[in-house]
Amino acid sequence: MIGTGQRGRNMAIGTKLVAGNWKMNGLRQDGATLAHELKERAGAAGGALGCDLLVCPPATLISEVGGILAGSAIALGGQDCHAAPKGAYTGDISAEMLADLGCNYVILGHSERRQGHGETDAVLRGKIAAAWRAGLTAILCVGETQRQRQAGEAIEVVSSQLAGAIPDAGAAATLVVAYEPVWAIGTGLTATAEDISAMHAEIRRRIPAGTRILYGGSVNPKNSDTILGLSEVDGALVGGASLNADDFWTIAQSCPAA
Ligand code: PGA
Repeated sequence: MIGTGQRGRNMAIGTKLVAGNWKMNGLRQDGATLAHELKERAGAAGGALGCDLLVCPPATLISEVGGILAGSAIALGGQDCHAAPKGAYTGDISAEMLADLGCNYVILGHSERRQGHGETDAVLRGKIAAAWRAGLTAILCVGETQRQRQAGEAIEVVSSQLAGAIPDAGAAATLVVAYEPVWAIGTGLTATAEDISAMHAEIRRRIPAGTRILYGGSVNPKNSDTILGLSEVDGALVGGASLNADDFWTIAQSCPAA
């Protein structure tokens, strides 16, 4: 059967999740090296890993990275999926294909996909349903642009993204929300602790109880203690810094004990 989904990795609420979004980076050798470095660190940490860890490599590397990470505590995810299980969709990948490669998660609605590929909330609703159909946990990304924040529209924008994209059957066990202010992604700018906590509290009121809410946007080893120390923050979605094993590991170690 396709879609083995959670495979016993049902995370206790309270354990934070640190996810690495490798984006379109890495040839096979790079991916293998990074995966080996992470596996080594996870092995050395044994059961003492204070958080759940996830890496989302580009589609070309999922199989190889998954093979290397097999048996480690590090989970595997994709960066996007199509809403249909299969068919004439050139260049796309289905949720079932990700599950078949050993993925448990898929990132959906990243701002780079919303902007670069015109993904709407309605499209994302279909993709989240597809992820669930295949047994994957969907990581839905939401966040406002700088202009929207300056115009005082941040909460309204994020609320409407949540309402538009999360299917009615939304359940905490198969959904993660990542709050990623667009202006903080890859810019070195991060939202203030107050703004992160305030937005996470707003998001929490609008999603199924118990759903983890990650913060993303220029999370790095220097700011991760502060961000992951916030009680409203259930983890981090890390882009650039996840390409360096030491940096990613330092960020993961910023999670306070659950
Ligand atoms: P960044 O990316 O950490 O490089 O800002 C985060 C993301 O896009 O998920």
